[in-house]
Amino acid sequence: MKKDQYILGIETSCDETAAAIVKNGTEIISNVVASQIESHKRFGGVVPEIASRHHVEQITFVIEQALEEAEMTVDEMDAVAVTEGPGLVGALLVGVNAAKALAFAKQKPLVGVHHIAGHIYANRLEKEFEFPLLALVVSGGHTELILMEEHGQFEILGETRDDAAGEAYDKVARTLNLPYPGGPVMDKLAHTGEATIDFPRAWLEEGSYDFSFSGLKSAVLNTLHNAKQRGEELQPENIAASFQESVVEVLTTKTLQAAKEYRVKQVIVAGGVAANKGLRASLEKAFQNEAADILIPPLSLCTDNAAMIAAAGSVAFEQGHRAGWDLNANPSLDLEVYGKRGSAK
Ligand code: KG4
Ligand code: ZN
Repeated sequence: MKKDQYILGIETSCDETAAAIVKNGTEIISNVVASQIESHKRFGGVVPEIASRHHVEQITFVIEQALEEAEMTVDEMDAVAVTEGPGLVGALLVGVNAAKALAFAKQKPLVGVHHIAGHIYANRLEKEFEFPLLALVVSGGHTELILMEEHGQFEILGETRDDAAGEAYDKVARTLNLPYPGGPVMDKLAHTGEATIDFPRAWLEEGSYDFSFSGLKSAVLNTLHNAKQRGEELQPENIAASFQESVVEVLTTKTLQAAKEYRVKQVIVAGGVAANKGLRASLEKAFQNEAADILIPPLSLCTDNAAMIAAAGSVAFEQGHRAGWDLNANPSLDLEVYGKRGSAK
């Protein structure tokens, strides 16, 4: 029988300080997340310097808590996996250095993980992957359709040409004077309103799997501006519902098209915007009679956490992927390049 594998995962790429222990890449033993959202709220977004400072204050405590909850020690880990990018450089550095220090002190293998690979692998904590697989990654910094033919390998079929879906949510929420992060608030509001305004859908060229949300964002701003000039009152819930309908329709339609073209067995949804109730319902409906199964992780695994980093790190570790003691934060780490590294180190 194969020995069980335990990975300690560490994530500090944005505004959550997180540590987790995952068994065999599929089972969460502990998963601790310290959110900084309250500290960034009054600035209407993440302030990089504040994020780094919070990570420094929290990291040791969060790692200790993850080990305590698992009733395990670092000695029992097979490897330490950490998000090396993309993200805020100062924030990433805190996690990378903590992971390096721990791995070096305990002479454990160190594995660098791509943040988006982590979001994708959050789904494997719920259900085993079947390839080919299509991942729709929708977060504050990313909107991508990714094809996976096997573990640890990623082909980007399409991506946003401007704003990410979550970013568009946050920006529109801001113009409606809603608190940060805007996504969850807009989602809630959308469900109390009606899609009375026909905002544009950016389909782009025929067959393209790229996305664009800046036109939609401008359309919302123009609508608000024009209404104000005419002295009209627009219902924010109807703006939210109309905006959400446009985003969800484009995401669902392109995901369905790609799933059919590449005859995938599974479609997984990942990233913070995967928590969106409208998107979840629309995708579930669209795939009801399709050959591909749709997997959407529970809300707690949609937003940033370290269990997803340990899950992706587990596969990278199995594939022989090792980072050296010179591992550095890479704020613009490319997912396809990361996938091709394989067992080079
Ligand atoms: O994946 P994530 O936690 O961090 C990044 O790696 O970006 O995603 C955060 C993003 C934010 O833009 C937030 O507004 C959005 O996910 N988000 C949502 C919802 N919950 C979080 N967007 C729409 N609807 C939601 N329910
Ligand atoms: Zn994320």
